Amino acid sequence: MTSQAQRKDDRLWGGRFDREPDQQFDAFQRSFAFDRRLLPYELTVDRAWAKALQGVGLLTAVEVQQTLAALDKIEKFSTTDAAWFEGLGADAEDVHHFVEKALVKELGALGWKLHTGRSRNELVATDFRLFVIDAAAQIQQALSALLNSFLLQAKTNLSVPMAGMTHMQHAQPILLSHFLLAHSEAFSRDLTRLESAVASADACPLGSGALAGNSFGIDRNAIASELGFSRITANSVDAVSDRDFALDYLFALAGIATHLSRLSEDFVIFASQEFAYVVLPDEYSTGSSLMPQKKNPDAWELIRGKTGRITGALLGLLTTLKGLPTSYQRDLQEDKEALFAAHDQIAHMLAVATGALSTTKFNAERLRAAASNPALLATEAADYLVHKGIPFRQAHDIVGKVLREAEKQNVPWTSLPLEALKKIFPAFEADFVTSLSLDAALGSKKVPGGTAPESVRTAISDLQDRINKLRIKRGATP
Ligand code: ARG
Repeated sequence: MTSQAQRKDDRLWGGRFDREPDQQFDAFQRSFAFDRRLLPYELTVDRAWAKALQGVGLLTAVEVQQTLAALDKIEKFSTTDAAWFEGLGADAEDVHHFVEKALVKELGALGWKLHTGRSRNELVATDFRLFVIDAAAQIQQALSALLNSFLLQAKTNLSVPMAGMTHMQHAQPILLSHFLLAHSEAFSRDLTRLESAVASADACPLGSGALAGNSFGIDRNAIASELGFSRITANSVDAVSDRDFALDYLFALAGIATHLSRLSEDFVIFASQEFAYVVLPDEYSTGSSLMPQKKNPDAWELIRGKTGRITGALLGLLTTLKGLPTSYQRDLQEDKEALFAAHDQIAHMLAVATGALSTTKFNAERLRAAASNPALLATEAADYLVHKGIPFRQAHDIVGKVLREAEKQNVPWTSLPLEALKKIFPAFEADFVTSLSLDAALGSKKVPGGTAPESVRTAISDLQDRINKLRIKRGATP
């Protein structure tokens, strides 16, 4: 396709070109359709830059006032006047071009001064860092709402035991609350990962130029602190090529998605007729167009399903970055769309998970019935023998034999008469079976982090403290 676009004299780079870009290529290289989302950050950065230019004598106080007023106007129009926004944006190459066009429209030649000594390479890196910082704060808030629903469910169901499983096989009894708090631990770690993504994003690239730095003596530290960054980037070449902050954010999102997917899987299984551990809330389920009886766990299935996109976004950016030479390359423009989409999806997934979790009713009877299977007390039985001085391996073997005998007789092992037990191991006494119970098994796990009711109560209050102490920076909604 060689058709020529009409010459646009307001391009940011047209001077050394004789001919216009091919139309198809031109559409291909533009990013305004998605980087328009960075406009609020671009305008904030522009304000700081205008003041910085005044600081080095490149703009007068009056010019700065005029520029700031025009930037305010652009901000206002872009949120209130869709026709103005779309009209001006129609031939904007990217968000940086859009603002320059709007400034020139407003201020004439003064509008061309703001880009003095700076490059889109540092601008886009700065805008994107600011976006990630706000985005992470939004997801931290959503995570804290999810943690809160875990807390409420853990409190409500404190007396409900369940059959703890490993390999999806009944293992040992635990409290349902303990199981729920296992999930909240995972999501608490996600909060920490988000914090570390914010720490990577929290460095201001402005003053790095296209790659070499700034020759007008711009005060980098002043701009950084004006924009709320706690530090400046250390190397101008690195600053325009570094997208580690985006990778860190996507990694944190992929962690959340993976944890959400695991939670979803648990609930899908628990909602099956075979388990019937949970009653699916109408508000978060759908029916079948064919089978009138169906109530499907679609909220959880879709959360589980969407996890692929988030992991894909992380892998996509890693793949884009792999093999890039150092410094800015246009490939880096590919960093934004998937991250924006992953952020939006996670926000949605967390909101739905929080709603579905808080409206789920647990079937305490079914959970207790499964937890009451005497086979789940086999480890306690071995521990009983350990307390009588028998080495654990031997105790394990003896209880194994007891279980096999019960299996042969087709009775629960706790119903075997004492004589039958004594035949297997003469030191068995009458208290063997009577000392073992579901409550005793639960109560014995009273180490910190264990499933004993007192340990779980401590874990609940620890989670409450953690939620209370969360200090989430309230930024704009990205
Ligand atoms: N749209 C570009 C991006 O997202 C902005 C920087 C463009 N720089 C350039 N030299 N063409 O990366």
